[in-house]
Formats: sequence, structure tokens, C-alpha cells
Amino acid sequence: MSQHMPNAYAADDIPSTPGKFKSEKLPYIHRLRWYSPLSKLTFWSFLLLFLIFFFVIASPPTSSPSSSPPLDSSRRSLRTAAWGGLEWERRVRLSARIRGGTTPHRNNNLRNGLCVLVTGAAGFVGAHASMALKRRGDGVLGLDNFNDYYDQSLKRARQSQLERVGVFIVEGDINDSTLLQKLFDMVAFTHVMHFAAQAGVRYAMNNPDSYVHSNIAGLVSLLEACKFANPQPAFVWASSSSVYGLNSKVPFSERDRTDQPASLYAATKKAGEEITHSYNHIYGLSITGLRFFTVYGPWGRPDMAYFFFTKDILKGKQITIFEGPNHGTVARDFTYIDDIVKGCLGALDTTKKSTGSGGKKKGPAQYRIFNLGNTSPVGVLELVKVLEKLLKVKANKKILPMPRNGDVLYTHANITLAQREIGYKPTTDLHTGLKKFVRWYLSYYSDARKKGSW
Ligand SMILES: NC(=O)c1ccc[n+]([C@@H]2O[C@H](COP(=O)([O-])OP(=O)(O)OC[C@H]3O[C@@H](n4cnc5c(N)ncnc54)[C@H](O)[C@@H]3O)[C@@H](O)[C@H]2O)c1
Ligand SMILES: *[C@@H]1O[C@H](CO)[C@@H](O)[C@H](O)[C@H]1NC(C)=O
Ligand SMILES: *[C@@H]1O[C@H](CO)[C@@H](O)[C@H](O)[C@H]1NC(C)=O
Repeated sequence: MSQHMPNAYAADDIPSTPGKFKSEKLPYIHRLRWYSPLSKLTFWSFLLLFLIFFFVIASPPTSSPSSSPPLDSSRRSLRTAAWGGLEWERRVRLSARIRGGTTPHRNNNLRNGLCVLVTGAAGFVGAHASMALKRRGDGVLGLDNFNDYYDQSLKRARQSQLERVGVFIVEGDINDSTLLQKLFDMVAFTHVMHFAAQAGVRYAMNNPDSYVHSNIAGLVSLLEACKFANPQPAFVWASSSSVYGLNSKVPFSERDRTDQPASLYAATKKAGEEITHSYNHIYGLSITGLRFFTVYGPWGRPDMAYFFFTKDILKGKQITIFEGPNHGTVARDFTYIDDIVKGCLGALDTTKKSTGSGGKKKGPAQYRIFNLGNTSPVGVLELVKVLEKLLKVKANKKILPMPRNGDVLYTHANITLAQREIGYKPTTDLHTGLKKFVRWYLSYYSDARKKGSW
């Protein structure tokens, strides 16, 4: 076959219009001359080859639960690491197994415990939630692409903490529908706890695509997988307090307006609330959205102020503190990670079942949105004061007016609804929580073995 190619190219290497010759960009098949018998033969051979390729190699993998891993790489451009293989499958099943029970397969009824797919499991909140679920006996399978938005070694360290308790994190992207199909074929998840997202407000100005990829396309891929699963899992996911945007009525209640996002991040979270609503409405997926308010704590995110203030204060580096117009305080309703995790578990435990099957709705399904905050906003200067006290180091502060880069001035959660419906009750004040964070930070970054403790 290959010996025909030079001929075909040579015959066609003459630009029809001077100056418009773009040989590299045109697919080979467009260059064939229909009147040449040789080319005709070439064309049919190519067509045959193409058809063979299409049916043998590019056909979707079979969906029987026991099917071997898909072998083609062409459909797996999102792969960040190898998945598939017998050992991989064994680890997936083992991790998803409910303690005292067996791995639930489709058509088997569950007697006890949840079987949860946790996306973003190597992330801050995802790792804590996975740990808590596993510890109480639920089956947990993680999924994370270990992207480099922040220090990947921190994600790896969380992963190894999880491995010690038996949680396996599949390395892959939530927008990889082939992988999702494989996972849903292997395990009958009762719940999906969806944390994977491009987080951060300011980064959206550098890399807007990553927000669309994970928070929009990835979300839809995941919902598609849930919609086709049989039985459909209940879906609990992390929205954000940022959806309140320019809303200035405080405290923020779930019914307040959320149509004025101040950042692309906020806009994608708001879009997620609308997208999940449509899947609830059309396909009967049970949906719970959780609007987290500035979560902090051990194993936290290095891109957040409390984290990099700690780092910079210890290094003696100047920290920049933003203030609002007329020297107004910028404040956040800081919420400690353990309180958030309790809220996540409360949400999981109170979900009603999805009602659809085979991609079809059978009846109305639950749709809920809750604030998960702490109900006591703290100004940034106050945050720094607490850190100075805990670190026993004076901060070198510079105060600047807040640039308009997506951050809002103030957040404050009304948590009445979550209290009533899912028993959410935060109990950790900022001083207590930061004390635990600082203890973890010092141990994690001073210990050469990077062990820390959970
Ligand atoms: N931490 C907060 O203060 C806060 C506040 C509001 C909302 N949230 C939301 O809570 C969730 C968890 O936040 P976090 O603080 O743990 O963030 P995180 O960045 O630590 O965790 C997110 C994880 O998802 C993974 N991920 C991202 N895109 C992915 C993709 N396409 N496929 C697979 N994995 C992917 C990342 O590698 C990361 O490990 C996010 O949805 C975030 O938007 C967090
Ligand atoms: C997400 O995946 C779909 C196919 O599953 C693909 O068409 C799309 O380009 C992907 N989107 C992004 C933003 O990566
Ligand atoms: C808090 O939310 C509840 C509804 O969940 C509402 O009834 C109440 O008025 C709100 N409180 C304030 C102070 O906005």
C-alpha cells in the first residue's frame, strides 16, 4: 500500500490556486484523482482498510461487566496514566467493596453501606471525604487526574494516606467517557460524590479552558454516565458560595439570587447547578448540590490565602492583604474541613434514590441545594492575626485595594436549610481549625519523609 503514496502525492502536489497550497493540512483521501484507475484501486483499498479499522479497532468496547479493558489508545486521549488490566480491575473492585458486604453489582440489591465514586479524591475535600467514608465502612472508589494546578506531590501524599486505608484512586479524567463507562460497568455505585473541578477564582484569567473542560464538559460526561447506569446512583456534588457573586444581601440563603457571578469559576459552578437540574428533570437523577464556603484545614489547598500566608509568614516574606473600597474589610465565612465532611456525609445519607433507568425518567426525583458554611465571617486581617499567634511570627503585611479579578468582598452563609434537612452543624471556630492546620503544616513540611498525619 505504501508504495502508491508517493505517486498519489506527486500527482497532486501542484497547487490549483497559487498561494493556497496547504499540503500538510489536507487529508490524503481528498487528493485522489477519480479518473485514474490506479487511484481508484487505491481509493477502494483505503476504504476497505478504513472500514476494517472502524469496525475492528474503533468500535466501542463491549459493556459486559466482565469485559477485558479496552485496548485502543485512540479514544483515550485524556489518559493521564495507564488504566485497565486485571490487577487494576482487582483494585477497583476491592476499593469499592462495602465492608462486611460484597461489591454490589448491577441487579444486586444492597443491604447496607454506600458504594461511592468520589471524583477529585486526591484533592483537599475529596481526600478527607474518602477517608471518612472508608473509615465508616462504605465502599469508596476515587477518580482523579492529578493535574498540576498546584503541587502534585501534595496530591500524591493524600493518595498514599488513602491507600493505607484501602481507597484506590483511579488515574483518569472525568471527561473520559470510555473510562467512566468501564467503571460503571464494573461497579454499581449507589452514590457519586463529585468534587473534581478546576477550583480557584483568579486562575480563570490565565486558563479559562480548564474551567470549561472540568466544570462543564467533565460534569456533563459524568452525568451522562450516571444517567445510563442501572440503577442510577444518587449524585452529590460540590458547588460553591461563589455563585452568590455580587449578591450583597447577607447572610446568603439558598433562595437568594445567583445570576451575577463575579468570575468564570463562579459562572461554571452556577452552570453546574443548572445542568444538574436538567438531568434531574429529564432523567430522574437524584441531585444534591453543596455550596461550600471557603474550606480550610490540614492537607488543604496551597493556592488559598490561609495556606500561602502561613508559608510566607514563616519565610519572612511580605504578604499582600486586600481591602475593599473605603478600607472595607474583605471577609470569608471560613469553614473547617471536618465540618464540611460531616455535611457531605449528611447529604449522602439523606439522598433519595434516583428514579430513572436505562436513561429514562420513571418519576420525579429529589433536587436539593444547600449552603455549607460556618455562619461567622472573619476578616482577612483577623485571619492573619490568628496565624501570627499560632506561628509565633509577626507578619510583614502590605495592604492594597482589591483588584477586580473575581473575588468578592464578603461571604456569610445562612445554614438553616442544611441544618434542618441534613443535620449539618459546624462546630469548629477559626482559631481551633487553624491550630490544627498549622500543626499539620509544620509536621508535613518539616518532616523530610513528608509523612504528616491524618
Ligand atoms: N476548598 C474550598 O474552599 C471550596 C469552596 C467552594 C467549592 N469548592 C469545590 O469543592 C470541590 C473540591 O475542592 P478542593 O478544595 O478539594 O479542590 P482540589 O483542587 O484540591 O481538588 C479537586 C481535585 O480534582 C481533580 N481534578 C480536577 N479536574 C479533574 C478532571 N477533569 N478529571 C479528574 N480529576 C480532576 C484535581 O486533580 C484535584 O485533585 C471542587 O469542586 C471545588 O470547586 C471548594
Ligand atoms: C470532553 O469529552 C468530549 C467527548 O467525551 C469531547 O468531545 C470534548 O471535546 C471534551 N471536552 C473538553 C473540553 O475536553
Ligand atoms: C435563612 O434561611 C431560611 C430558609 O432556609 C429562611 O427562612 C431565613 O429567613 C433565612 N434567614 C436569614 C437571616 O436570612
